Amino acid sequence: MDSTIAIASDHGGFELKEDLKTFLAQRGHRVVDFGTQGESPVDYPVIGARVAEEISSGRITRGILVCGTGIGMSIVANRFPGVRAALCHDLYTAEMSRRHNDANCLVLGGRVLGKGLAREMVRVWLETPFEWGRHRDRLLQIQEMEQRFCPKRGK
Ligand code: RB5
Repeated sequence: MDSTIAIASDHGGFELKEDLKTFLAQRGHRVVDFGTQGESPVDYPVIGARVAEEISSGRITRGILVCGTGIGMSIVANRFPGVRAALCHDLYTAEMSRRHNDANCLVLGGRVLGKGLAREMVRVWLETPFEWGRHRDRLLQIQEMEQRFCPKRGK
């Protein structure tokens, strides 16, 4: 797996994003930060789209998005073809988002999670493989829906 991670947050996730950047760098990842760069309010759709576009285009294979709850960022990211963004709240959802959903974008709530738990979730999410098998068939069903409902952009 390419060890490059795209990361971004709005103001609600800024503090956690900064902490996760440190954690990821310590673990040897190249981290590409798509903003925001402070606590001033920004619109999460604009920021989330930057990482979602990187993943959707194939330029970067894994991304992490953080907003206050994680809800807005996950809604945005899942608009982009090929992006499987998983809003996770604990170690179990982080692990299963990889095993069963091959999630390529982890979404976290900066106002929901403590930094220690979030770091552990990121570690588990990065280390857990996709299980393939019947789960692959289900992802293909989603891909087929993208092509049917967004024929110009689906791939
Ligand atoms: C910002 O106040 C907040 O709405 C945002 O971070 C996020 O939680 C939206 O879903």
